[in-house]
Amino acid sequence: MRKRILAVLLVAALFFGLAACVGGSSAGSTSGEGDGPATVKVGVSIYKFDDNFMTLYRTELERYMEEDLSNDSIVYDVTVVDAKGDETEQASQVDQFIADGYDVLIVNLVNDEAAAPIIDKAKTAGIPVVFINRQPNVAGDMEIWPGYTTYVGADARQSGTYEGEIIVETDNQGDFNGDGVVSYIMIMGDEGNTDAEYRTEYSIKALTDAGLTVELLDEQRGHWQQTEGYEITAANLTKFGDKLEVVFCNNDAMALGAMEAIEAAGRVVGEDIYLVGVDALAEAVTAIEEGRMTGTVLNDHNGQSHKAADVAAELAAGGTVDTFYWVDYQKVSGD
Ligand code: GAL
Repeated sequence: MRKRILAVLLVAALFFGLAACVGGSSAGSTSGEGDGPATVKVGVSIYKFDDNFMTLYRTELERYMEEDLSNDSIVYDVTVVDAKGDETEQASQVDQFIADGYDVLIVNLVNDEAAAPIIDKAKTAGIPVVFINRQPNVAGDMEIWPGYTTYVGADARQSGTYEGEIIVETDNQGDFNGDGVVSYIMIMGDEGNTDAEYRTEYSIKALTDAGLTVELLDEQRGHWQQTEGYEITAANLTKFGDKLEVVFCNNDAMALGAMEAIEAAGRVVGEDIYLVGVDALAEAVTAIEEGRMTGTVLNDHNGQSHKAADVAAELAAGGTVDTFYWVDYQKVSGD
């Protein structure tokens, strides 16, 4: 008899213990202990740690939530994991966050076209999701669970336009050899990525909108990586020589690689070639000051990470949010 009572008590204790654990998994709830601050568990999955811009972004996101947003009554406990560019890895990270009763998720998609399964699972578990930096790229995804799913990012069309305008604003408008044509190469980010698509399209649109004639010499994916930016530029400099007048890169990491290739080939930025990127990484801004890059566009990782954190906090507190939040880009050129 005594054994049976003990067993019942044990089961009851287990049940209430478990209930307390999963308490954090319903939308908007937080788990507190006694009189201390409530803890909000934030699960962040980054598409790849090996990415210069996203390293700045994730570092600031974690710092801002844990240091600036946390206070005496609420503490944000942020766990950031590396999806290593692997969609399956990211899916299991999300599953684990859900199983562990996280209060809100922040997801930097590996595959911009694979938001739906994540939203479906989160919705079932009642855990809101903030997508950052890589915009869900399938129509209708953001309507699956409105109010509880959102995208915080920057409008990549703007960054592309600014890149193009930087070239239009130069003295010779990108035409060093005076043949009336701007001959360029385009080094692009990942396939299917909105930033890559729009930056590629809108940078050139800014030139043609200004009445310039353009000639695409080569277009290749550098996957946001410096080494690939170097290799693509080096090959094109060898192939086209002085004919190549402008190197457009979808980001600064690739532009920094392009800069090394340009210098190794004995070409001089501003004198016989132009080079532009996006992000305004510290190394790129220094290169612009030194005249080794023509310009870049500030991709505001502070503004974006803070907005993402604020929105995540709002969701964890039980609120609903807008579907999109946009943070502006800013032009950065040597002029
Ligand atoms: C872009 C950024 C790139 C890279 C990419 C990852 O916004 O400009 O440098 O971080 O996001 O998706």
